Formats: sequence, C-alpha cells, structure tokens
Amino acid sequence: MKRVQYDRYGGPVEMYVGDYDLQKVADGEVCVSIKAAAINPFDWKLRRGAMKVVTGRRFPKGMGTDFAGIVTEVGSKVINIKVGDEVFGTVDFKKSGAFAEAAVLDAGNVVKKPPQLSFGEAACLPIAAMTAWVAILDRAKARAGSRIFINGCSGAVGSFAAQLARAHGAHVTGTCGRTARGSEKAPGVDLVYGYADKHEYARNGKFDAVFDTLGTLGVGEGLSMLMPKGVFVDINPTPGRILRGMLSRRYKLAFATMGIRHLAAIAQLAGEGTLRPKIGLEAPFSDALSVIANAETGPRPSGKIVLAF
Ligand SMILES: NC(=O)c1ccc[n+]([C@@H]2O[C@H](COP(=O)([O-])OP(=O)(O)OC[C@H]3O[C@@H](n4cnc5c(N)ncnc54)[C@H](OP(=O)(O)O)[C@@H]3O)[C@@H](O)[C@H]2O)c1
Repeated sequence: MKRVQYDRYGGPVEMYVGDYDLQKVADGEVCVSIKAAAINPFDWKLRRGAMKVVTGRRFPKGMGTDFAGIVTEVGSKVINIKVGDEVFGTVDFKKSGAFAEAAVLDAGNVVKKPPQLSFGEAACLPIAAMTAWVAILDRAKARAGSRIFINGCSGAVGSFAAQLARAHGAHVTGTCGRTARGSEKAPGVDLVYGYADKHEYARNGKFDAVFDTLGTLGVGEGLSMLMPKGVFVDINPTPGRILRGMLSRRYKLAFATMGIRHLAAIAQLAGEGTLRPKIGLEAPFSDALSVIANAETGPRPSGKIVLAF
C-alpha cells in the first residue's frame, strides 16, 4: 500500500510517498479503500509538529485526515456499516493517514456518503463542517434573527459556518480576500467586506457572535464588536489569545474533534443541499506531494483541494 508519510516533523520537504502495512481490523473498526482525500491546513500543521505533545515521536507517520471511499472490511462489533458501503469520515489525527490507498479506523469516525455527493465532495466535509458546526451551533448558538460575523467567510470552515448560520435563520456578515467579494466564494453571507475594511465592519456592539476562522482578529477587537451577551469563537488558539480570552467569559474555543458526533447530521444536510462543499482543485494522488506543498506555501484556490485515487 502507498501513502504520503514522513519520518520527522518539518516542512513539505519531509513528505514522501512510501509503503506501509495496513493494521489488522479490530472489533470496532472498518477498513476503507480511499477514493478521495481532502487537504486541510491541519494536515501540514500536524506534519510540522504543532501537536507533537499528543502525536508523539513514532515514525513514519501517515499524513491526511479527511477521506471518502468504499468499505472493504468491518470488525465483528460494527453494526451500522457493511462491506461495500460508500462512506466518508476522518481518521483520528493521532493516527492520521488518509492520503493513502486504504485506511483502518474506528467505525464511529465514518458515516454513509450521501448518494448526491461525489467521493471528492464528501471528502471536503469532515473537519471543516464539524468545526463550523461546533463554532456556529454549539458555541455561537446561531438562531433566527441572530447577527453573526465570520472573519474568513470564503474558506472551508468559514463557508460551512455561513451556510449553517443562514440555515438557522441568522444574518451573516463576513470578511474575505478582495477577489472573493461579491462572488460565489462566500455563499450564505449577507454582507461581505474585505479584510482591510475594519472601519466599516468592526463597529462596537453589533453582533451576537464573532467567529474568527483565521486567527487574525484581535481578541479585544472581536469582543468589542459583540452585543452584551455575545460570544467570540476562536479556532486558532495561541497561548497569547487564550490568555487574553481567559479574561472574558465570552471567549470560546471550538475544535473539529468535538464535532465528530455531528457527522451523520452533516451528511444529511449535505445530501439535502443545505451544506454545499466546493472543490477548488481535484488532482490525482500521483501529484500529492506537489499539490500539498503548493497549498501550504502558495496561494490556495477558492474551494477545497482534493486528491483522487
Ligand atoms: N480548531 C480546529 O479544530 C480547526 C479546524 C479546522 C481548521 N482550523 C484552522 O482554521 C483555519 C481555517 O481553516 P480552513 O480549512 O477554513 O482554511 P482554508 O479553506 O484554506 O481557508 C482559510 C482562508 O484563508 C484565506 N487564504 C487563501 N489562501 C491563503 C494562504 N495562502 N494563506 C493564508 N490564507 C489564505 C482564504 O481567504 P481569501 O482567499 O478570501 O483571502 C480563506 O478564507 C486554519 O488555520 C486551520 O488550521 C482549526
């Protein structure tokens, strides 16, 4: 079996396509033949060692988390998934390795792929949509009439967040790059600003929730934009931001891992067309190393980058 892997933490130069042996499928696990895998910024952050306290020092490590594919084997205690099912999901980041021909993972981390979605579209969903769900519905509690601000509304997380907020009746304001303004890059956003238009969007006391997908909005700045009971939601915590946030009970963190229980609901919303994954580039697995390196170091296309097997 082939996969993208690395033998030490570091930049794109550490990645190579190498051989690996699939582990035996345990009682609660499934084996999936991967048809498409989507790239997340999280993948290169892991490879760079951003979470090495958790991911440890055993190498080689497989790269990639989000995938869609076909089940080839199920453990004896798996009841909801059978061989031949088309599924999508996310590999536990502590064992990541979805940029691979096949993966063995916990059956709780996969759900059936909606038939309306291609493998590539389904692979775009897990981390980005789970993070958006936790941020917008669990933390910001978007509801009819609430006013939500999303910094980075054209990115994968930001765009799913805007779609979820709109689906719950919220009014969405967001920022994105100049080229994205007024285009289809920001579906679900009622009012779109450029990043530089702070004097226009950063008015005091305007929003029920501010969701910073990029980590570029100061915590104080975000808090000042809130109504008295509003919340600032962060998905790029740094020690400085957490410290600053601890001074306010209205600063909340959101992580993709908290969203795994919502994967089935996400599949349903995507099947109905409420959540619309957008592919910016679909490339063959043979181009994986250059495609990942380009996404990491250069300008990214609008929409997710998907590796097809
Ligand atoms: N806490 C968690 O569990 C969690 C989960 C998922 C993601 N995250 C983090 O959240 C952030 C957003 O993730 P995402 O998947 O939404 O990312 P993404 O799809 O790449 O989009 C993020 C934004 O980055 C801008 N962008 C485009 N090219 C860029 C480049 N070369 N460098 C920097 N920004 C660029 C885009 O805006 P414009 O093109 O409009 O400028 C876009 O709005 C990342 O830092 C990621 O690590 C955290």
